[in-house]
Amino acid sequence: MCGITGYIGYRDAFPIIINGLKRLEYRGYDSAGVVLYDGNQINLSKTKGKVSDLLKKFDSDTSKVGNLGIGHTRWATHGEPNDINSHPHTSQSGNLVLVHNGIIENYNSIKQELIGRGYSFQSDTDTEVLVNFIEEIKIQNNVKLGKAVQIALNQVVGAYAIAVFDIDKPDEIIVAKLGSPIAIGVGKDLEEFFIASDASPFIEYTRNAIYLEDGEMAIIKKRREVIVKKIDDDTNVDAKVQELQMNLGEIEKNGYEHFMLKEIHEQPRAITDTFRGRLLPEEGIIKISGLENNMKRFLNAERIIIVACGTSWHAGLVAEYIFEEFVRIPVEVEYASEFRYRNPIITERDLVIAISQSGETADTLAAIKLAKSKGAFVFGVCNVVGSSIARENDSGVYTHAGPEIGVASTKAFTTQITVLTLMALRLARAKGTMTSADYRMYLQEMERIPAKVEKVLEMDAKVEEIARKYLLSTNCLYLGRGYNFPVALEGALKLKEISYIHAEGYPAAEMKHGPIALIDDRMPVVVIATSRGHYDKVVSNIQEIKSRSGKIIAVVTEGDTVVRDIADHVIEIPDTEEALSPLLTTIPLQLLSYYIAVMRNCNVDQPRNLAKSVTVE
Ligand code: M6R
Repeated sequence: MCGITGYIGYRDAFPIIINGLKRLEYRGYDSAGVVLYDGNQINLSKTKGKVSDLLKKFDSDTSKVGNLGIGHTRWATHGEPNDINSHPHTSQSGNLVLVHNGIIENYNSIKQELIGRGYSFQSDTDTEVLVNFIEEIKIQNNVKLGKAVQIALNQVVGAYAIAVFDIDKPDEIIVAKLGSPIAIGVGKDLEEFFIASDASPFIEYTRNAIYLEDGEMAIIKKRREVIVKKIDDDTNVDAKVQELQMNLGEIEKNGYEHFMLKEIHEQPRAITDTFRGRLLPEEGIIKISGLENNMKRFLNAERIIIVACGTSWHAGLVAEYIFEEFVRIPVEVEYASEFRYRNPIITERDLVIAISQSGETADTLAAIKLAKSKGAFVFGVCNVVGSSIARENDSGVYTHAGPEIGVASTKAFTTQITVLTLMALRLARAKGTMTSADYRMYLQEMERIPAKVEKVLEMDAKVEEIARKYLLSTNCLYLGRGYNFPVALEGALKLKEISYIHAEGYPAAEMKHGPIALIDDRMPVVVIATSRGHYDKVVSNIQEIKSRSGKIIAVVTEGDTVVRDIADHVIEIPDTEEALSPLLTTIPLQLLSYYIAVMRNCNVDQPRNLAKSVTVE
């Protein structure tokens, strides 16, 4: 939930670290800090706030010189966001400097022990405890930094990605990982090395990266080598250098005001990329290798359990409707955070699908481990290649949405639904639960979806106009039925997370069991009323809201005349099969929350209190 970056080599570390932190700010933006070492002294600057605040501070009081440095952008866990709790943290002697992403669960007992040995602490963080613990071990055992880190981490309980250096040994940085990601960029001829929570900070310097696995540490020696070791038994690991596929354009705004808007508009391309090589309508083929290789597992499964959080959980709910209808297999969708702690009944005959954009969500990761321990086969749907969840699953599929940087998930959602729909169609054919005519029809309609999404995006200006009317609302209801009930939940989540307007999603028919009491002339109600999905029933729900003076924003199928007469605003989308409609209906809801948030001057890409990947439980 925090971002780490670092550099050791022959260049100025400062711009590399600052640009890296800006790219990692999606991971947390409560505070930021950088430390540079110029060969004589360390220059440390840290502050509450964003990297832009840090830059101001750096300009006024600190030197920017140094070929070695580490930086941090924080999502606060232990200790409120303030200057003192910001990273990097130094040890009591001032010799060791450390940044950390994760949580040291037993920090308090270690802290008490260190206090007993004369240490005192400035901050409330677990990280300051860790850096002093490493220092104490180094002094007591008279060992080098690498060994001290290893001994310390073997006594630590929790999750971490750390980078630490010793000013007495300025040609070396030690990194280590358990539960939080860390990548090492390997420069040409081993002349320089980069460290980051993901590869985006160093993409313009090198295409070669080593991703540490859980339980590994690396000793990075300037102009020499990277030695990767297992933390528990000190054995050397033959770490693979991977070639990065990411492009710089994918992680920049490319002229859009916000990443969220860019990512909303990228959806036709992202969905097409999700299809690529997998959807072949001419041949009547869907080919997803992770699925093909495990077809028996899927066909023999008695039940599918989907685990996920947030928007990915909403994609799981859409998948529940699709799998049950197409494949006729029972599906349960669970919040990963509940599933992992409620002693669920899981057997070897269950198949678990874990959905995660980032592939780093702590609760989803823990749910996967639990399911595996009970013998279930776990299949992952992830966006981030090589992420912890992608590696932990038994098999899986990537969505290929490209980097999603806006904290609010948009293209991740539609590409997750896309890939899950392809899987359901493929399984339906294999199981014989769908006629070949329907199967072919769906394949062809799937192929038309990106063009239809493009068409929905043409509504952008109209949605912006509607947003202007509701920017001062304090509450909002979202209603949908069937496949579009999860879309209502997703629309409400989008609005609340970026505009801070209270919003709730409901199955349209549930409204009369309670929420209808909230309706008055100040309550906007967004209703998904597409022509194929229980249309008449939804129209009746709209009438019920109208008779109580609620304001209706309706998402309807092109050519609709009935709802147009009742609703205050209509947003038309192209016709499609009901099962595929979430891929279209969700787009105007994304735009609506985006424009409302922008008009309320909210930080759309970095909403308060949130972070892109939630690596703490
Ligand atoms: O990376 P994941 O898909 O596992 O993340 C799950 C949620 O944290 C995420 O979807 C969150 O709800 C988004 N901010 C919603 O826009």
